[in-house]
Amino acid sequence: MIKIAPSILSANFANLEKDIKILERGGADWLHLDIMDGNFVPNITFGPIVIKSLRKITKLKLDAHLMIEKPERYIEDFKKAGTDILTVHVEATTHLHRTITQIKKLGMKTGVSINPSTPAIALREIIPFVDLVLVMTVNPGFGGQKFIPTMIRKIQEVAIMCETSGRKIHLQVDGGIDETNIRAVYEAGATVTVAGYSIFSKENIPKAIQNLKKLTR
Ligand code: DX5
Ligand code: ZN
Repeated sequence: MIKIAPSILSANFANLEKDIKILERGGADWLHLDIMDGNFVPNITFGPIVIKSLRKITKLKLDAHLMIEKPERYIEDFKKAGTDILTVHVEATTHLHRTITQIKKLGMKTGVSINPSTPAIALREIIPFVDLVLVMTVNPGFGGQKFIPTMIRKIQEVAIMCETSGRKIHLQVDGGIDETNIRAVYEAGATVTVAGYSIFSKENIPKAIQNLKKLTR
C-alpha cells in the first residue's frame, strides 16, 4: 500500500492546525510542505517559520519540498524548524552532491526531485546518496494541475534505478494524483504519493485519504 503525503498547498491557510488534525484522522503518513520562492517556480508560499509552528502541533513526518533556487542557503533553517525530509531539485543547485551531503550531515532524510522534462538519467550519480527521489508529475508551482501521463514511463525507469541501487529509497510522485491515476503510479513503482487538490477538494477529507490508500492495496 502506498504512503499518502497530503500537500497543505490546497489547505485553508487561515486555519492550518484544524486541517492538519483532519489529515491525521484520515491516516495521512507524512505532511508535504511545498516551499516556493517565486524564482524557481512562478509562485511564493512559505518558509521555515511556518514549519516551526507546524512542528509544535503534529507528529506527522514533515516532508519539505524545496522549489527554490540555491536551496543550500537554507538547509540549517529547515533543520532548526524541525523538518524530517528535505527534498531539493536537481535543476536548482549547482553542487547537488555537496547539498545532499549537507542535509544528511544535519540529520535529515535526503530527497532529490526532477521536473517533468528532466530525464531520469539526471539522477544516476546522486541516487547512491539519497533516501528519497521525487518524480514531478506536473510542472511545479501550483496545486490542482493535470497529471502528465507520460511520467508513468519515467516512474518505471526511476523505480529500476532505485531497485538496482541496493538501497531503500522512497519513490515519491507529486502532482495531479487522484483516484483515477494512483493505481497506475503505484504499479509503476511509486511508494509515496503527494496529493493536494484531490484530498482537499472533497467534502470528507479523511475518507478521500482512505480511498486513495484502498486503491493501492
Ligand atoms: C506543486 C507541488 C505539489 C502540489 C500537489 O508544485 O509540488 O506538491 O501541491 O498538489 P496537487 O495534488 O493538487 O497537484
Ligand atoms: Zn510538492
